[in-house]
Amino acid sequence: MPQPDFDLLIIGAGPGGYIAAIRAAQLGLKTVLVEKDKNLGGACLNVGCIPSKALLSSTEHFHFAKERFAAHGLITGDLRFDLATLMKRKSDVVAKLAAGVTYLMKKNKVEVIKGLATLAGPHEVSIAEDGKTTRSVSAENILIATGSSPIELPFLKYDGQRVIHSEHAIALKEVPKRLLVIGAGAIGLELGSVWARLGSQVTIIEFLPRVAAIGFDSDTSRGLQRSMEKIGIKFELDTKIESAHVTDKLVELRGEKKEEQVEFEGETVLVAVGRKPYIEGLGLEAAGIQLTNRGRIAVDQNGQTNVRGIYAIGDVIEGPMLAHKAHEEGVAVAERIAGKPGHVNYDVIPSIIYTAPEAASVGLSEEDAKAKGIEVKIGKFPFSANGRAIASDMTEGFAKVIADAKTGKVLGIHLLAGNASEMIHEAVVHMEHGGTSDELARVIHSHPTMSEALQEAALAVENRSLNY
Ligand code: NAI
Repeated sequence: MPQPDFDLLIIGAGPGGYIAAIRAAQLGLKTVLVEKDKNLGGACLNVGCIPSKALLSSTEHFHFAKERFAAHGLITGDLRFDLATLMKRKSDVVAKLAAGVTYLMKKNKVEVIKGLATLAGPHEVSIAEDGKTTRSVSAENILIATGSSPIELPFLKYDGQRVIHSEHAIALKEVPKRLLVIGAGAIGLELGSVWARLGSQVTIIEFLPRVAAIGFDSDTSRGLQRSMEKIGIKFELDTKIESAHVTDKLVELRGEKKEEQVEFEGETVLVAVGRKPYIEGLGLEAAGIQLTNRGRIAVDQNGQTNVRGIYAIGDVIEGPMLAHKAHEEGVAVAERIAGKPGHVNYDVIPSIIYTAPEAASVGLSEEDAKAKGIEVKIGKFPFSANGRAIASDMTEGFAKVIADAKTGKVLGIHLLAGNASEMIHEAVVHMEHGGTSDELARVIHSHPTMSEALQEAALAVENRSLNY
């Protein structure tokens, strides 16, 4: 075989692909990144994690100002919002970060090719623009990092108007009067919050008996639901949507709740029932790449597919569809290709839902531990007893530590708190190093901080909480 053009060709410039490109370039690999979309950064940066956080931030400020400013003695007069400005700010945030990724590619001397990549052989990729193949590129190694796209329900075809997915829901031009949301996972809860705070009557319909059922503790689900009900969101749990009728003006959903027929009506329906791997057009079958029985690309412990030299990371392989998981896998695969021992600890991946309060979790839930037959001790501490939380008007939620009853090793930590997304990383570091609840309890925590609640929850594992 002639010398390939590159050491590593990466398909997809999301948080998995572009990070893998940087790490590979740092390790001296000649690297090329192929991306079909105009911007680098993938769905997370352009239409997912980042724009949704911009909207969550703007609307949380609005809601807090409306509901809580008076109690703080802050007088604003007639508080209103301008949706166009709010959306423009969101787009500016995205543009700034996308430009940052382009800069990082230049800085690290990663070549970027715009176009749709298809596997054309074990070391060959053809790249098409506007449906025409423009060039063929060879590489010693290929990494597939093409991410995922929203699942569509067969009876509710997306039209971008009445029937929308997350990408439409971050770009609406007006507030829907009544927004129906199918699915109480991260997307349904986050985007449901955005529109409820702006005045939409939001109903979230969920098949399972609790919200945030996947990856979160049931205490978190309960607390989160209560907090969201306070902002006017209605929940219909244990409810499966089975059919729909969509007209120019209305959406009607029909389904079953505990064996009874139910119906819902709204102007718009956001379908948030999960995402599927984006693998269309990659030529996986022709390349002989095997899929798992759930339709994701099958890889070994090194992230390599059954075809030597072809790797895959992120949402296209098994595991939680989270940007930071893809990111770590990208680093690990780049390091392994460069002959180093890449590492991802799948037991310690944090999950966050950026509502208000935020839900953050790492490791096992109480239910997971029970299902695995592990005997546990649990410590819990409410933010209503935490000084900083009271001073900051952020008293909703709790910290919960789950420890192995025999060894004291922390198995899971769950937070429902105003700033849980930041606080959880103390738990992640502690668990990464295999710490016990006693060790966590003995670490000095500054006073007054919300992080003290985590220390108190660790103390509560042995019933020796000090402030509750
Ligand atoms: P999800 O898989 O987290 O939740 C979907 C929910 O829809 C489930 O609770 C499921 O029981 C329910 N459902 C499915 N079919 C239904 C039906 N016919 N009727 C009623 N309920 C039904 O999916 P989601 O929220 O769409 O998110 C997709 C992926 O993106 C997830 O892996 C999620 O973790 C990730 N994501 C993560 C974010 C974060 O980390 N903050 C933010 C947004 C997405």
